[in-house]
Amino acid sequence: MRRKLVAGNWKMNGTGADLKEIDALGIAWAAPRVEIVVCPPATLVSRVAFTLGGQPIRVGGQDCHAEQSGAHTGDVAAEMLAEAGATHVILGHSERRADHGETDAIVHAKVEAAHRAKLTAIVCVGESLEQREGGTTLDVVAGQLAASLPDGATAQNTVVAYEPIWAIGTGKVPSTEQIAEVHGAIRDKLRERFGEEADGIRLLYGGSVKADNAEAIFATADVDGALVGGASLKSTDFSPIVSALE
Ligand code: G3P
Repeated sequence: MRRKLVAGNWKMNGTGADLKEIDALGIAWAAPRVEIVVCPPATLVSRVAFTLGGQPIRVGGQDCHAEQSGAHTGDVAAEMLAEAGATHVILGHSERRADHGETDAIVHAKVEAAHRAKLTAIVCVGESLEQREGGTTLDVVAGQLAASLPDGATAQNTVVAYEPIWAIGTGKVPSTEQIAEVHGAIRDKLRERFGEEADGIRLLYGGSVKADNAEAIFATADVDGALVGGASLKSTDFSPIVSALE
């Protein structure tokens, strides 16, 4: 059985003042059945980990460099995230692909770096509106998946997040049929490549997940949880999404 997972991606939001949201989340979810991961900006990873102490909520980064150290100003290594208390890292988010020109090959190298540092990589894939309307969604996602995941991907070290770009921060959400179609196709591709191991790899949906649509999304075939952006910033918005999965 795949354990359900809800991850919150704070993106470039959050300061020390927002650690109160982490406190509130820890109080609300002292013993969650589902796995909860909070991914704050890199500046807050160690403080969030410290705030959570021994509580079962996990902390993740939003990106890492492929190398362990070196002359890469502004970058953070997977090992550094792990040392700061992270157990997960989001990789290949469409905002990184767009803002920083991250190709599938770069994402692939970063996923390997995450695995090297014993982090679970949450690998994002998803089509643009143009690709959706052009009918190439399944091909685009299959291509990203094939080129971004290394051969060493397992159910323990890898999670795949399907995030249609047109649904991110827009309030637009694909129909549950559309989500099921893409998640089913991802599962098939994973099975072709990784065999039985693929059945343990969790598939998250991301893009305008809110308290009022979470239940329907979570009831969709092959959806093992969500990667949440805007609604993860306040514990009062995030908690009902976790509840919908519990
Ligand atoms: O990684 C999560 C994200 O891209 C979705 O953002 O704000 O639409 O939930 P949002």
